[in-house]
Order: sequence, then structure tokens, then C-alpha cells
Amino acid sequence: KTYKIAVIPGDGIGPETVGAALEVLEVLQRILGTFKLDYEHLDWSSDRYFAQGKYLPDDWMEVLKPKDAIFFGAVGHPKVPDHISLWELLLPIRQRFQQYANVRPSRMIKGVKSPLANCKPEDLDWVIVRENTEGEYAGQGGRTHISQDWEIGTELAIFSRYAIRRIFHFAFQVAEKRPRKLLTFVTKSNAQRSGMVLWDEVAYEVAKEYPHVTMDKMLVDAMTTRMVFKPASLDTIVATNLHADILSDLAASIAGSIGIAPASSIDPTRKYPSTFESVHGSAPDIAGQGIANPIATMWAAVEMLEWIGEHDAARIWMEAIEEVCAAGTTTPDLGGTENTAGVTEAVKQIIEKR
Ligand code: NAI
Ligand code: MG
Repeated sequence: KTYKIAVIPGDGIGPETVGAALEVLEVLQRILGTFKLDYEHLDWSSDRYFAQGKYLPDDWMEVLKPKDAIFFGAVGHPKVPDHISLWELLLPIRQRFQQYANVRPSRMIKGVKSPLANCKPEDLDWVIVRENTEGEYAGQGGRTHISQDWEIGTELAIFSRYAIRRIFHFAFQVAEKRPRKLLTFVTKSNAQRSGMVLWDEVAYEVAKEYPHVTMDKMLVDAMTTRMVFKPASLDTIVATNLHADILSDLAASIAGSIGIAPASSIDPTRKYPSTFESVHGSAPDIAGQGIANPIATMWAAVEMLEWIGEHDAARIWMEAIEEVCAAGTTTPDLGGTENTAGVTEAVKQIIEKR
């Protein structure tokens, strides 16, 4: 079977980690011989913005719509304000394609150490489901000058019953398929008394349709403490766009490094293509040095293979990643001495040897 994949490496370490993943995908296609990926390589990045004044071409929706998936690196350049790069490239795709569920698994891979001394590998196996289209990142707000030195910026969080319902249905369906059938939902409905209270109400409504899943509620501040001190008490987590953004960086760090954490922006209806990317950004501090950890982007590609239905390839690749980590062949963010190419070569060799 052949799948159409849009490849958007983007900025900074994006092209480095996407390049690494594409190398492994070549090996998988050759070894298995059961599927083919038909790529369209897209230069939508800050370099394109410098040259042409735009991240996305006018016809970006037509280009992406027929694809089976979008494989994305990262966006962000030191010379472009981050709110511009994000809003001109990544957020329009998430919002216009209604990729309303951002799925972020975190677990401890063997050989990877948690910075928490008390955290054992069996303690940490989470999936964070992030609402990906509205909430605090709805893009609503503005700036007003009241007088010359008195300026107000408003940032409006939008929570619609419709979007809350669909993200809870999605989260319950994720929780239902996992052994522990446990869903923790995160809000801040003590201090924020409208949108967050609606979020709570809808949670309990939708919960009635999933009697086999145990649901519990956390306020986001207390949630950070629970993640650090009682990691084993959590399984599937659902939270708003902002809260889950923050909690997933924390989760990735507890699991060892942000350099291994994948993120899938999913349209569960499959009307539009879904995007597979890392949790991390373009990491300009290490870009160009060849030391970026490619595992987050590789794991994202594994999730992409699962999404399009190539489960064997996904399993083989994930096992190879785990074997490489267990052998200590890792980049400096995981305490290793390898570079991007070294980790990639090791993963390829394991797959080749099968
Ligand atoms: P970042 O995730 O790029 O980097 C945070 C820290 O983690 C840095 O010290 C970096 O070196 C390290 N790191 C990240 N990925 C790594 C990897 N694969 N291997 C080893 N170390 C890694 O976040 P930061 O610095 O806040 O943002 C940098 C740029 O990326 C900004 O322009 C930001 O807007 C953008 N960004 C883009 C995202 C996306 O495209 N999805 C997500 C987050 C940030
Ligand atoms: Mg983030």
C-alpha cells in the first residue's frame, strides 16, 4: 500500500530530526516491502518567511488535504517573534484541519533515567490528551492603549461545549483501551469560574457514557505535584490547550528528556490529515551541531505509522528505539555521548538485522 505524506521539516533541529526519521523509514520500507511512502517535501519554514514573507503558501489547504498524514519537524527562529512563527504555520493547520486531539504519550524507556530518584519505569506510563483547537490558544484578544503608558493586553480563553464534549469522548476512548481504564481530567475551576466550570460539567456528563472508566479531577497546580510525587497514580490525562502544553513538557522531563517525547495532532474523524511531530521546538541553542535527540521525532513517526495502519513497521521501529536506549546509545540530553547520526545508525542497524 502507498501513503501520501507531507513532510515539513521546518526550522532549527527540525530538519535534523526529520532527516533522521526519514532514513529509518527508508530502511523499514525496504526491509518489509509491504508499504510505500510517497513524500511531498515542503519548505514551509522561517527561511521561506525571510525569502517570501510567508510561512504557508496560499493554497496550503489544497496541498495538505489529500495527504494521509503530515510529518512535521519544528518551527521557531531566533529572528522571528515566536507568536508569528507559531500562528503563521502550526496553529492554522491544527485549527483549520480540526486536529482537536493532541496526543502525548510519556513512558520511561528502558535505559533512560528519570531525574526523579523515586520514579521507577513501571511507575510512569501516561497519555496526555490535549485539547488542540481552542481554550487559551483560541487567538482571541487584543491590545488597547488607554493612555500613553497604560496599555492592556487581553487573552481570551474560549471553551465551547461542543469542543469540550469531543475531547472528552476522545480521552475516554483512549483511557478505555488502556489496562488501567483511568482518566484524570485537569482544570482550574476554582479560580476560573466560567469556561473551566463548563469543562467540569461536561466531564461528568460524558463520563456517564463510559461507566467502565474511572475518572478523577485535579486542579492544574496540584496536578504538577501529583505528577512528581505519585506518578504511578496516573494513566490517561485530559487537559486544556495551555494546561496540557505545560504538563506534557513536565511529563516528558520526568520520563527523561523532552528529546524523546512525541505529539500527534489528530483529527479523529479522518476528514483531514493528522500531524505527527515532537513535543519539543526548534531548539536553536543546539541546532546545527548534530546532537539533537532524534527519538522524539522518530517516536512521532511511529505514531504516524500506527495511525495509517502500518502496525508491524511501528512495532519494529519502537522496539529498535528501546533497544538502542537500553544499550546506552544516546545523545547528551539523555546523558549519552552519541550524536544524532550515531543514534540513527544504531536504530537502522537493529532493523536491518531482523
Ligand atoms: P525547545 O523545545 O526548542 O527547547 C527546549 C530545551 O530542550 C532546549 O534547551 C533544547 O536544546 C532542548 N531540546 C529540545 N529538543 C531537543 C532534542 N531533540 N534533543 C536534545 N535537546 C532538545 O523549546 P524553546 O527553547 O522554548 O523554543 C525554541 C523555539 O521552538 C521557539 O521559537 C519556540 O516558539 C519553538 N517551539 C516550537 C514548537 C513546535 O514547532 N511544535 C514547540 C515548542 C517550541
Ligand atoms: Mg509546548
